Amino acid sequence: MKDNDFVKKAIMFDEVSSTNSKARELALKGEDEGTIVVAKKQNKGRGRFDRVWFSPEGGLYLSVILRPNIPPDKTTLFPLIAALAVSKTINYFGLSSKIKWPNDVRINNRKVAGILLESETDENQLKFLVLGIGVNLNIDIEQFPKELKEISTSLSQELNKNVNYQDFLDKLTSFLAMYYKMFLNKDFDKILEEWRKLSDTIGRKVRIVTSSGEIIGKVTDVDESGFLIVITISGEHKKIMSGDCLYLDS
Ligand code: BTN
Repeated sequence: MKDNDFVKKAIMFDEVSSTNSKARELALKGEDEGTIVVAKKQNKGRGRFDRVWFSPEGGLYLSVILRPNIPPDKTTLFPLIAALAVSKTINYFGLSSKIKWPNDVRINNRKVAGILLESETDENQLKFLVLGIGVNLNIDIEQFPKELKEISTSLSQELNKNVNYQDFLDKLTSFLAMYYKMFLNKDFDKILEEWRKLSDTIGRKVRIVTSSGEIIGKVTDVDESGFLIVITISGEHKKIMSGDCLYLDS
């Protein structure tokens, strides 16, 4: 697969409930790998842990259908891959974004993009993945709800000018293509090496809220699956698959 072969078909909407829901619907009907669903706005944008993803016009809302031939438990690196592609794209446009594990992309500690990976499996077989990406591109953050305003930013706010939507989308999909290809070639070390360079999580004191409780400790690394490795105060090494990460030392 060449980099520019990645997007086989683009389906654009002015408004949808959620590009992830739309992409899932299409994938269930057989839509191929490489189809992307893009919308100018979403009225039911979804984030991780069933949170709302505020999706006014000006943002980029993208979902990619992927059908890698891998077991379902090998998909955990995808959110990190997407965050890496988003962060690289943002930095290409002159900003300095960082990744907070697993997949929050931030500029000056404010969230600018998020990733939502959803999968469809059948008898422990992966049918497809929907990789959803939301980027606060050309958005005046003043219109965000109060609780989000303080912790969010947008590219236009950081650059004091708008970014060309199509240029951003093209760059983003070409980075996604590159990292997806690396993944299929099992170049996990290379992906993680790049992820580590752009992440500000390693070495931090953190509190991770997981579905089975809370872990406090210092982050030592991420492993090949994208799991966070944390050493707790009692010296125990824990591997964390998913959770909400909060920095305690900034
Ligand atoms: C998060 O940080 O919680 C993840 C946010 C993911 C938002 C994107 S926007 C495009 C796609 N469609 C959705 O409904 N969600 C994802």
